[in-house]
This record gives sequence, C-alpha cells and structure tokens, in this order.
Amino acid sequence: VKPVKQMHVAQNWRINWRVAVMACALLVMISPGPMGIAAAAVSKPEKIGIIGAGKIGGTLARLWVQSGHEVLISSRHPEELKSLAQSLGPKARVGTPREAAMFGDVVLISIPYGATPQVGKDLAKELAGKIVIDTGNPYPERDGDMAIEARRKGTGVASAEFLPGVRLVRAFNAINYSSLASEAHRAGDPIAIPLAGDDAQAIAVTSQLVKDAGFDPVLVGPLSSAKLFDVGTPVYVKLLTAKELRARLKL
Ligand SMILES: NC(=O)c1ccc[n+]([C@@H]2O[C@H](COP(=O)([O-])OP(=O)(O)OC[C@H]3O[C@@H](n4cnc5c(N)ncnc54)[C@H](OP(=O)(O)O)[C@@H]3O)[C@@H](O)[C@H]2O)c1
Repeated sequence: VKPVKQMHVAQNWRINWRVAVMACALLVMISPGPMGIAAAAVSKPEKIGIIGAGKIGGTLARLWVQSGHEVLISSRHPEELKSLAQSLGPKARVGTPREAAMFGDVVLISIPYGATPQVGKDLAKELAGKIVIDTGNPYPERDGDMAIEARRKGTGVASAEFLPGVRLVRAFNAINYSSLASEAHRAGDPIAIPLAGDDAQAIAVTSQLVKDAGFDPVLVGPLSSAKLFDVGTPVYVKLLTAKELRARLKL
C-alpha cells in the first residue's frame, strides 16, 4: 500500500501531466507549421533572457528575434556582445547574466554544464518562478566529476537540483548548433526538438518557442525522461522528424 503522501504526489503528477499534454496538443493544433519566418509569426512576443550567448544561445537569439521576440543576450563581459546585438537589431539588448535573468519572462541557460550549479546559486532570486530552458550537456572532460553524476541521474533530474525554484524545461540540447542554424524553418517536415519538463505552462511556452525557432517540439515526458535524449542516446544530434523521433523513443 502506497503511503498517502506518495499517492497524492502521484495523482498530482498524473493530473499535471494530462494538462501538459492537452496544452501542448492545443498548441500544435492552433499554430502554423514552420513554413518560413513569416508563417511562424509569434502569438505572443516573449521577453527572453539569454545566459550564455555562445554557439547555441547566440543562434537561438537570432532565430527568436527573427520571429518577433525580444532578447537580452548576456555575458560576463557584455562589451564583447555588442556587435552580435547590433547585427540582431532593435529587439536585442546586451547585459550581464543577472540582467538577463531579471529581463526574461523566459530565461535560456546555455553555458558549460559545470557552471550551472554556480549560476543557479548566484541567480536564485532572479530566476525564482521563471520558465528556464536548459540546453546544457554534461561532459566529464570539460565539466569534471559532476558531469558523471549528472549523466547517471539524467540531466532533467540533475539540472532541477542545480536550479531549484524555476520552471525548468530541457530543450535544444540534442541538436548541434550548426544544424540549429541550417535546419531552422527548413522546407518539408521540420526537425524535431525533444523536450522534457514538469510544468505544463513552461512546456507550452517552450513548445511555442521551438516552433518560432523553426523546429517541431516533441514532448518526451517529465524532467526525469530527459535522460532519453541526453548525450549518447540513439536520438542525440540525429536530425529526426517528429515521427522518426517518436518512433525511436517509442512515444
Ligand atoms: N555547441 C553545440 O552544438 C551544443 C549542442 C547542444 C548542447 N550544447 C550544450 O549547450 C551549452 C552551451 O554550449 P555552446 O556550444 O553554446 O557553448 P559556448 O559557445 O562555449 O558558449 C557558452 C557561453 O557560456 C558562457 N559562460 C561560460 N561560463 C559561464 C559561467 N560560469 N557563468 C555564466 N556564463 C558562462 C560564456 O559566456 P561569457 O564567457 O561571455 O560569459 C559563453 O558565451 C553547453 O552545456 C553545451 O554542452 C552545445
């Protein structure tokens, strides 16, 4: 017999999960396919803070500005991002990681995985309650022992520990940055981006941002399921359509 508390958690989770799936299904039905930037016009421009405007963060900043969102790209040396911001135009501004966390209704964290615990601590107040999209991948050779543990647990579980109090979604970790630039809004069936999260609204908003970037969101499951598309899995950086991704993950 399950203890009462455990049953409540399980029931709440099942209800949350149904809401998430319904919300995402609704988004898929009402929004246009990624047939080009004009066709992917955003329903609601978001303010997106970008912590780590490198290869992935910088590419997403461009794709989101092109589809009508406002971004604050950040660096520990903001002056180094001025030319990127200029090339992005008036919907982009530059600041520090703290300013990005304050600016965004949605915050993208796209930094070396080993830096995630420190960012989570330093910006806990600014990030609290926000939708946070985490692209980080743990590499022991770059990030040290914490990466071994994160791979064992799965990044959804590990990142949630490093970023307590945020509404976390794992996304954009399983595509190479050059494919992110070259495959966005491609003709034909779009490339799928697998997502995992525990918060229905965060999943819905992230799904829309995936579409606005020119890709097809595929909800894999709760944060604990992010493990299914971590580094080294059969779907990691494979450029699959939604149908192919679902088939490989048996969704
Ligand atoms: N590259 C890919 O194709 C790819 C694909 C999927 C996932 N990923 C993962 O996504 C994450 C970002 O990858 P990337 O290739 O975009 O990296 P990147 O080009 O090296 O950019 C990382 C950014 O993180 C910032 N950063 C570094 N240390 C930081 C710290 N302690 N605090 C705050 N910001 C810090 C740097 O900004 P400043 O130095 O200017 O502050 C830099 O712009 C990584 O975890 C990576 O494994 C990468």
